[in-house]
Amino acid sequence: MSQTVSFDITPEKEASKLQFLRRQLSGSPPEVSRQDVDLTGQTAIVTGANGGIGLECSQQLLDLGLSKLILAVRDEVKGEAARKTLTTAKALEPSQTIEVWKLDYASYESIMGFAQRVEGLNPRFNIAILNAGINRGVFALNPTTHHEEDLQTNYLSTVLLVLLLLRILKKTYATSSLSKFSPGRIVVVSSDMAAWAKFNEKNDEPLLKAFDKKSNWDKLERYATTKLLGQLFVADIAKRVPPSIAIINCANPGLCHGSALARELGTGTALFVRAIGRPSAIGARILVNAAIKQDEKSHGQYVEDCKLRPMAPFVYSKEAEQVTPRLWEETIEELSFAGVQDILESLSSAQVD
Ligand SMILES: NC(=O)c1ccc[n+]([C@@H]2O[C@H](COP(=O)([O-])OP(=O)(O)OC[C@H]3O[C@@H](n4cnc5c(N)ncnc54)[C@H](OP(=O)(O)O)[C@@H]3O)[C@@H](O)[C@H]2O)c1
Repeated sequence: MSQTVSFDITPEKEASKLQFLRRQLSGSPPEVSRQDVDLTGQTAIVTGANGGIGLECSQQLLDLGLSKLILAVRDEVKGEAARKTLTTAKALEPSQTIEVWKLDYASYESIMGFAQRVEGLNPRFNIAILNAGINRGVFALNPTTHHEEDLQTNYLSTVLLVLLLLRILKKTYATSSLSKFSPGRIVVVSSDMAAWAKFNEKNDEPLLKAFDKKSNWDKLERYATTKLLGQLFVADIAKRVPPSIAIINCANPGLCHGSALARELGTGTALFVRAIGRPSAIGARILVNAAIKQDEKSHGQYVEDCKLRPMAPFVYSKEAEQVTPRLWEETIEELSFAGVQDILESLSSAQVD
């Protein structure tokens, strides 16, 4: 169901450090203008919207006339502060509203409750930018799922949210009036680092549990691998779910300063980010582009500097052919409590034209 896209650069070359530096140092990706895309009448969800790149995405969506913005945050006090920032930065138009909704990726219960609330939206949501992410500087297991925290947030919980949102988009499709964002759009936020992951756990069985062993943990490597797993998932789900339900892609904002993520990694990394990073507002342009400018061709693909680009080389490798089905199976098993198997069956058999 995903389309074959040809690139003018190989995945290996795209993944090179030289290419990365070129991207970081060569100009700004273009901003979407309101003349180009007007979001009046549309509803968007941005997760991890209280700061960094998520807050900048929120501002850019409002600038494009978005009618309803849901700031999905784990800390509602920070969410309210973000709402205040957005409403004082520029006056909202009378038709624009911002709501702060609690969503904690560390808790499946919170994700299920959030999705239930999203299901009650009328009109339905059109755009979701799944931006929440972490890079814990220390090894930690989630107290309820017992999975390592980066894996939990950046991969498992993100996948659960994608599947629940897809179910809502499919369910509400028939009852919603058509808009320019039918089908809906879901963006999974990725990173340059996915391409540099060693993914040492790839031959372990079971696979997901290998991430929960402290001896396998390394702070940067773990972050990189969880972002790679996200790419494998996006490429895979796009083969199973038609873009007539939702266009789902992943997008890389590039290395950005002004976010909390690098600060967790210590002074050395923070200085490096300061030296070659871009402002979060520039990174946010790429996520917004992926959400509202990219079309069906981007289903299951990767957006970098507002263009379709190859994902991490591993995604196209022979090894991935072995690993992806195991990853898929274990992920669906992990999330079985949420009925994801039934969701997938109903999505893959969907005839939404
Ligand atoms: N900055 C970069 O250079 C860079 C580069 C490539 C990709 N990215 C990706 O871009 C996204 C945004 O990162 P950022 O740089 O803007 O970092 P950030 O400022 O740390 O923002 C991350 C957001 O995710 C939220 N979050 C973390 N754990 C969560 C949880 N369990 N439940 C709900 N929300 C949670 C954070 O909330 P709290 O404020 O409550 O912690 C925060 O709002 C991430 O997915 C990151 O991996 C960033």
